[in-house]
Amino acid sequence: MDSGSQQHRPPDERPDGPFGWIAAQDRARRAAGLRRELRPRAAESALLDLAGNDYLGLTRHPEVVRAGADACLRWGAGSTGSRLVTGSTALHAELEAELAAFTGFEAALVFASGYAANLAAVTALTGPGTLLVSDAANHASLIDGCRLSRATTEVVRHADPEAVRKALGARATPASPAGPGSGSGGPALVVSDAVFSVDGDAAPLRELAAACRAYGAALLLDDAHGLGAMGDGGRGSAHGAGLAGAPDVVCTATLSKSFGAQGGVVLGPAVVIEHLVNAARTFIFDTGLAPAAAGAALAALRLLEREPERATRARQVAREFHRLLTERGLDATAPDACVVSVRAPSPDSALAWAARCREEGLAVGCFRPPSVPDGVSRLRLTARCDLSGSQVHRAVDVIARTAPPH
Ligand SMILES: Cc1ncc(COP(=O)(O)O)c(C=O)c1O
Repeated sequence: MDSGSQQHRPPDERPDGPFGWIAAQDRARRAAGLRRELRPRAAESALLDLAGNDYLGLTRHPEVVRAGADACLRWGAGSTGSRLVTGSTALHAELEAELAAFTGFEAALVFASGYAANLAAVTALTGPGTLLVSDAANHASLIDGCRLSRATTEVVRHADPEAVRKALGARATPASPAGPGSGSGGPALVVSDAVFSVDGDAAPLRELAAACRAYGAALLLDDAHGLGAMGDGGRGSAHGAGLAGAPDVVCTATLSKSFGAQGGVVLGPAVVIEHLVNAARTFIFDTGLAPAAAGAALAALRLLEREPERATRARQVAREFHRLLTERGLDATAPDACVVSVRAPSPDSALAWAARCREEGLAVGCFRPPSVPDGVSRLRLTARCDLSGSQVHRAVDVIARTAPPH
């Protein structure tokens, strides 16, 4: 909801200056239990971390950390400029080539974040003439891409390929590969998280691809939570669904979750990647990914190629969380990847529940509106491949003992 713009009043009506309206919003947020606060964490913590997204336990892996430090020493603390000026190094090119080869796509382009990668892919592949079909539970970065695109956006029911078909059919777009031609995007693009960030469920990828193909639309998948966890050895959701390398499929991902570093990537046909270099504003006008992040992500990728069982184990841990939580009577989502969320009765109770977990040595995510698509507050737990069985049991015990009455 665009709450900021609703508060605007003529200047002479603002008793507390131009930012006076913020206090009223803050009061409303507090009353609804929706205020957010930063809590800087210590470098070392005794808390068991089920809140971060370090699914493969690589953020502090010595090889990954060393590669990041080496890249920093070799290339400098920053990339010094945008990718088209001075911000592309041999390291970026190496990372892109290996990401493409690993995931099965023809080409890759790395960005400063997954958010920037999503904005780039959505906006550069669409325009005022495009129909954008977007899942109702998509990540904020895809939603923002839709808003920036100036395309006609149709939001469809979550994980519903029939709704996608209907939206595409209503527009009756012919199966034409040609876009309007002036850099304003192709005829139709369907965008979906491949693994949804709040409940950890996987999108029906094959059915979505079939719907797109029936209407000549392209498919854009955000695999932030699938790369490193889904598909053979963590090669990602598109690879797992047999869609990697398809001429009509583009995939985005972050390097900050399974890969333990920072940054984002768009994977797709070479023609799409070349187009992004020329047309994606978050590529052209943003400083290139820092060398330390590129080096760390590349080391994480190579490590995962050597140790593919990390992906399997992380998913196994998530399923174990779900089984044990459900056994204790909690309303937990069945995970397809590494995210399990547990419903709470209200934002306040979710916050108090997370605080009680913390007092008992457990860091869990607490998702409240507007970060949840259906308005239901949840604890969000992330599985990691390096959690032991006894850690999983202890965590479930804490969560169950501290649960609010439903
Ligand atoms: C589904 C999804 N897409 C995109 C992003 C953005 O990635 P990044 O944090 O690298 O900007 C996130 C991360 O928070 C995410 O969960």
